[in-house]
Amino acid sequence: MKNLKSERELALDFLRVTEAAAIESARTMGQGDRKHSDHVAVEAMREVMDTVPMRGRIVIGEGERDEAPMLYIGEELGGGGYSAEEKATFPEIDIAVDPLEGTNLCALGANNAIAVLAAAERGGLLNAPDIYMDKIVVGPSVKGAIDIDAPVKRNLKAIARSLNRDIADLTIICLDRSRHKQLIDEVRAAGARIRLISDGDLSAGISAAVAGTNIHALMGIGGAPEGVLTAAAMRCLNGEIQAKLVFDPERLGVDKSKVPPREQVMERLQSMGIKDPDKIYDTNDLAPGKRIIFAATGVTDGALLRGVRFFGAGKRTHSVVMTTDTKNIRFVDTVHVEGGPDAVIRF
Ligand code: FBP
Repeated sequence: MKNLKSERELALDFLRVTEAAAIESARTMGQGDRKHSDHVAVEAMREVMDTVPMRGRIVIGEGERDEAPMLYIGEELGGGGYSAEEKATFPEIDIAVDPLEGTNLCALGANNAIAVLAAAERGGLLNAPDIYMDKIVVGPSVKGAIDIDAPVKRNLKAIARSLNRDIADLTIICLDRSRHKQLIDEVRAAGARIRLISDGDLSAGISAAVAGTNIHALMGIGGAPEGVLTAAAMRCLNGEIQAKLVFDPERLGVDKSKVPPREQVMERLQSMGIKDPDKIYDTNDLAPGKRIIFAATGVTDGALLRGVRFFGAGKRTHSVVMTTDTKNIRFVDTVHVEGGPDAVIRF
């Protein structure tokens, strides 16, 4: 990004982008159609993102071009409505999006669905494949104390020590999946509490890095794209993620026929520039950008963000916008007024 001023302005532009995606998907809340909820979020996100004064390129999106018509990996967007000369002066930006994180959560009207975007200068976000990733995410006080390769109990001890409490006073958040049976057993045996969630390990990871949420770490296997977005948030929140790609059917607890053969995965990883499939990624590997912007808007109510509220005169959104440069974490409560000059705005 060219300079600090443009980054600050862009952060607000990106806020408009996640707000738009959240509003459209929130309209579909509880309708039981996760694909439709995702589709309207993608459309709204793309439309507003194209108006942002940047030369943007999607690095984490809705999939490859042939499977996603919009926000596909490699899609270039931004600068809509500006002349070619103006456009040439705009900063070149890589973007990772999850227009609706927790499609099922939105479709069921459950908590913690969010619309998310992260941006950085070119090359500032890992072009991660859409496969699984084992993750451990902690907040600033625990930074440097965890090791994804260590036994679960040792990590829990380290987290407890860093937070100056007993293991019994920790809450670990984890996706409720059969692949996590051993992890869950080990956390229970060590004496920590667990919150099992049906979906949404990105918002869960962010909660782990914010004191006062009563979540002390996220552990377990979720999507790799969500891992990159979590890392972008950790860069802004001073938290930590450690991660490893997972493609072994045994670790995923699925039949061999359910995942592509190892050779095929290796080829794909190589084509994406990933030479060592067993590499342990840290926060800076996943989101190495010098300047990172992260924006998220609540779709349904959650631990950190309220969901979209609709009322006669408009709607109200709750978001978080943060950047590595300014070290400001802004929680933004926006009233989108539609009802004309006499609309009543409540505090
Ligand atoms: P969607 O938003 O695409 O529905 O993903 C939700 C999610 O729960 C992520 O938060 C998580 O990383 C991933 O799915 C886990 O995948 P799976 O449901 O296959 O275990």
